[in-house]
Parts: sequence; C-alpha cells; structure tokens
Amino acid sequence: MLIVRPISSTDSIDELTALLHRAYARLGAMGLNYTAVDQTSEVTRKRIEGGRCYVAYRSGRLAGTVLVQPTYAENECGYYTRPGVAALHQFGVEPGLQGLGIGRALLQRCEAWAAGHGFSELAMDTAEQAAHLVALYSRLGYTQVGHVQWPGKCYRSVVLSKRLE
Ligand SMILES: CC(C)(COP(=O)(O)OP(=O)(O)OC[C@H]1O[C@@H](n2cnc3c(N)ncnc32)[C@H](O)[C@@H]1OP(=O)(O)O)[C@@H](O)C(=O)NCCC(=O)NCCS
Repeated sequence: MLIVRPISSTDSIDELTALLHRAYARLGAMGLNYTAVDQTSEVTRKRIEGGRCYVAYRSGRLAGTVLVQPTYAENECGYYTRPGVAALHQFGVEPGLQGLGIGRALLQRCEAWAAGHGFSELAMDTAEQAAHLVALYSRLGYTQVGHVQWPGKCYRSVVLSKRLE
C-alpha cells in the first residue's frame, strides 16, 4: 500500500538523505553533479524548511520524496521568482521502486498543494543532458520555459513548467 503524506517530525532526515543519494546515483554516474547526489542531511533539512515536503511510504518503508517550494523572493533561476510560480526540488524514488507510479503520485500531491495555495504554475528544472527526465516531464504536462546555469553545476538546466487548474 502506498501512502503519500507531508513529512513529520517522526521521519528521519538522515534516511531521507540516504534515499535521495540512492535515487540520484544514476545522475551522478552520468557526471551530473545534482545537489541531491551527495547533499548532507543538513542541506536536506535546510531545503525542506523552505517549502512543503512530501514523503511516500510503500508497505511501511520510505519509498520516495519531493519538495514543493513557494515563489522565491530571489533566486538564480529568475522563473522561480515570478508571482504565482512554485518550484519543485529533490524529487526521488527508491531505485528498486521506480516505474510503479510513486513519482507520479508525489507530483500530483505537489500540484494539488500548489493549486490549493493559490499558485498558478508548478515549475522545475533538470539537466539538459538528462534527456530521459526532460521527456518524462514533458509527458507529464510540463513545457520548457527557459534555462538556468546554477553556480557550481557542470551542466546547464532546462526549466519546465505546468499551468495548474
Ligand atoms: C524521476 C522519478 C522521481 C520518477 O519516479 P517514479 O516513481 O519512477 O515514476 P512513476 O513510476 O510515477 O512514472 C512516471 C513516469 O516516469 C517514467 N519512468 C519511470 N522510471 C523511469 C526511468 N528510470 N526512466 C525513464 N522513465 C521512467 C514512467 O514510464 C512514467 O511515465 P509514463 O506514465 O508516461 O509511462 C524517479 O524515477 C527517480 O527517482 N529517478 C532518479 C532521480 C531523479 O531523476 N530525480 C529527478 C531529478 S530532476
């Protein structure tokens, strides 16, 4: 059984961080230094503080996570500072459980949360070289709206966004 709920104080940030490392390992192996490849638990905690984090549990075990972040006042990605735009970050599903609909369920919760809180768009970004992710997000209704070069990243990112009902 799959349960998707907001993170609570009973959830372990260390466990969440370890899951992100496992989920993003494939991207790391592609030479893409996404933050979640090796972020510390402290970074996970800080990122979560800024927004709404969801966790997915399958058969009682942590299976995935995602973070939806309200509009930034300032950000290297100008799109994330546009009024009405929420941003999605640290989106990962346990490698052995990918392809089972958990990611889609997490994304739907984020879209519902953003729409319910008055946001008109949910945006995200991913490395240009991660063509499988750009294709996946396109299939899920996200369209390319620009690019961002994050400081310290060895790749340029595509910014994608979806208008919310
Ligand atoms: C991206 C990710 C979060 C999606 O979660 P998921 O639970 O695997 O996704 P779902 O099972 O809900 O599937 C959603 C879509 O992704 C596709 N998909 C799932 N795993 C995939 C994979 N490894 N490669 C390509 N597409 C994949 C599914 O086919 C599905 O598309 P469809 O409905 O059109 O068939 C997950 O695969 C993951 O953790 N990947 C590694 C980390 C990562 O890339 N994070 C995002 C960084 S921007």
